[in-house]
Amino acid sequence: MTEKLIDGKALAQKMQGQLAEKVERLKAEYGIVPGLAVILVGDNPASQVYVRNKERSAIKAGFKSETVRLSEAISEEELIEIIKSYNQDPSFHGILVQLPLPAHINDKKIILTIDPSKDVDGFHPMNTGHLWSGRPMMVPCTPAGIMEMLSAYEVNLEGKHAVIIGRSNIVGKPMAQLLLDKNATVTLTHSRTRHLADVCKRADVLIVAIGQGHFVTKDFVKEGAVVIDVGMNRDDNGKLIGDVKFDEVATVASLITPVPGGVGPMTITMLLEQTYQAALRSVIK
Ligand code: GUN
Repeated sequence: MTEKLIDGKALAQKMQGQLAEKVERLKAEYGIVPGLAVILVGDNPASQVYVRNKERSAIKAGFKSETVRLSEAISEEELIEIIKSYNQDPSFHGILVQLPLPAHINDKKIILTIDPSKDVDGFHPMNTGHLWSGRPMMVPCTPAGIMEMLSAYEVNLEGKHAVIIGRSNIVGKPMAQLLLDKNATVTLTHSRTRHLADVCKRADVLIVAIGQGHFVTKDFVKEGAVVIDVGMNRDDNGKLIGDVKFDEVATVASLITPVPGGVGPMTITMLLEQTYQAALRSVIK
């Protein structure tokens, strides 16, 4: 079984170790410390966990990390002012506003406020445009991390059929573009897709980002397919589970990511990598 496992945790640790060395060199050569500002509004428990993990990993890799925890009641205008102050602060190379935001705040307007050169989430329309025109700058971190995993495990995507479940701006849509860039044939499915299991069963690579615990069973998976599980759900006992029924799907997949320890740690790694790259660009124009 273990030879089937895509160990995102181990790959992330390796990459973050290499990143810490690059950060040391950047400090030594240019006197610059990559700075990441993470803004969290409200007390969504899942967001609190994600933000804490991002902060811990950033500090461990030698970054300057600042987390701003704001009350749910903050106004859109106040939040915009805070983002603008980080846009202007040269000691911060990356700004991330954790989503979702409270309903009274327009998330599109907030994303538009972030300086595209500091938009380490790759959510600003300018970065989306770069990605879709085939010249990626800042790429959404979860799909970027998945591409790193596929590459590390030598999954050849050329001419392969990749099926994605979920069409979000954070995962599904950018994932489709990154797979197209590697010459995969991409099917992007969603909640209205008919005969979903049949469509998925034709996939050589299946990326699951539907947000429903244990949704994908082995009836969705072709023998020998590569299965990537983006899900982070809690079961009735509060246990963290993916969107894929791991135990049964692992019997047919050739490679599969676990939850936890698969995609999650790679998302953080890519966030740090893009913050490092932004810091590097600030000195090497
Ligand atoms: N919420 C869930 N995933 C993400 C992410 O990758 N970035 C941000 N900013 N918020 C999220």
